Amino acid sequence: MILKDIVSAARHKARWLVRHVRRLAVIAIGSAVLVIGLVLVALPMIPGGSLGTVVGLTILSTELGWARRLRRKALARLARVAPGRLKPFVGSLNGARVLSADAPKAVRRAADVLRQGGLVAFPTETVYGLGAIARDRRAVRAVFEAKGRPADNPLIVHIADNEMLGSVADEVPEQAQRLISTFWPGPLTLVLLRSPGLPAAVSAGLDTVAVRMPAHPVALQLIRLAGRPVAAPSANRSGRPSPTAAEHVLADLGDVVDVILDAGPTQVGVESTVLDVTGSIPLLLRPGAVSIEEIERVIGRVDQYEHRAGPARSPGLNHRHYAPSCDVQLVAPHRLIESLNAAHVSGRRVGVLCRNLNAPDGPALAYFRQVPGDEAEYARLLFASFRAAEQADVEVLLVETVEDRGLGRAVMDRLERAARRDQPARAIEEVAL
Ligand code: TXA
Ligand code: MG
Repeated sequence: MILKDIVSAARHKARWLVRHVRRLAVIAIGSAVLVIGLVLVALPMIPGGSLGTVVGLTILSTELGWARRLRRKALARLARVAPGRLKPFVGSLNGARVLSADAPKAVRRAADVLRQGGLVAFPTETVYGLGAIARDRRAVRAVFEAKGRPADNPLIVHIADNEMLGSVADEVPEQAQRLISTFWPGPLTLVLLRSPGLPAAVSAGLDTVAVRMPAHPVALQLIRLAGRPVAAPSANRSGRPSPTAAEHVLADLGDVVDVILDAGPTQVGVESTVLDVTGSIPLLLRPGAVSIEEIERVIGRVDQYEHRAGPARSPGLNHRHYAPSCDVQLVAPHRLIESLNAAHVSGRRVGVLCRNLNAPDGPALAYFRQVPGDEAEYARLLFASFRAAEQADVEVLLVETVEDRGLGRAVMDRLERAARRDQPARAIEEVAL
């Protein structure tokens, strides 16, 4: 067994090496051809300079930002041609193996990859997660690298049973116990004192750990088969909208993740609620799929965290998040038409995501999505709509706001952070991979 693990780890390392060596080789060849081309341009008596320069630039560009962005766009489009379940060949184009979760042995194969130190994107009831064995320091580091995630932003550890809880958290207060019996498995993440056995890197050095038991059968089966708790942030590049379908993961992380388990679109669409239960009064760090009202019904008063000064209690809240590449403008329902007219005047490509507006007459919209129905439906389609607007090359996306209560609070939290302009999302190209 141990020998098998060593061999698998070596194989994983070898794949990683091959990927990086291939990248370096492409950059080296591209640079060499470019330099030769430029030299020839400077020596007009020898022909071929311009051709060499163009070829060099083309080779280099396959590893540079805009080409990667183009490739991602093309893949996302390709993925839309095969909606729901992705065809495996789409995955293989981009490096990751995409396995339909209900194919025989798919989850077992994914669990093997996790045990070998690999990265597996998997569905949960909220959004897709990017999983690594929580106790595997190297794999956890790879998660941060893959996402381009700031090292100060801790990960959530996913468990499949109460025994696993004991191995990651030191103490489970009485209030937490009550929440666990009411909401687990489900979209409530509890911040507890971290067990010393768990690497500090998972929690970005904090002495606490965020834990949740997801309510998706594939996630639970994966963790059970891996036999260990799985650390998993949302499977998007840092700052981008969370993925609610396998094709979103493929578009963001296809070149850095080993396996994507595809089980179709997720049910809830926004992430879990994060609640710190280490103090005497529980503190809501991130509104999410379980509303504060539901939590208060079980344990009474809950405070809401507001970051004023000093280190943040939940560092992830500091960063601009959930943002598509276009500007997001929040608009109250009664101001939609007025804002739409103003946006048209600006001459930019305009998109609209709304609940109450029928497709308006007037100048054509680059993107229009009406989601009639309740907040749950709006939440479910929110991030997918962001990505669809991006695909339609929208420059400014007007998004109708919802009431700030129940699930609406989670929706408004995501919208407000997507619309923040003070901290532009880090360009994907800036992220060292
Ligand atoms: O629904 C979800 O929660 C999804 C699925 C995949 O489970 N996961 C997810 O993870 O949204 P992520 O990494 O995108 O967000 C985790 C949030 C961040 O805001 C982070 O700062 C906070 O949880 N967090 C994690 N550990 C923490 C800790 N020890 N103390 C305070 N906040 C913590
Ligand atoms: Mg996230």
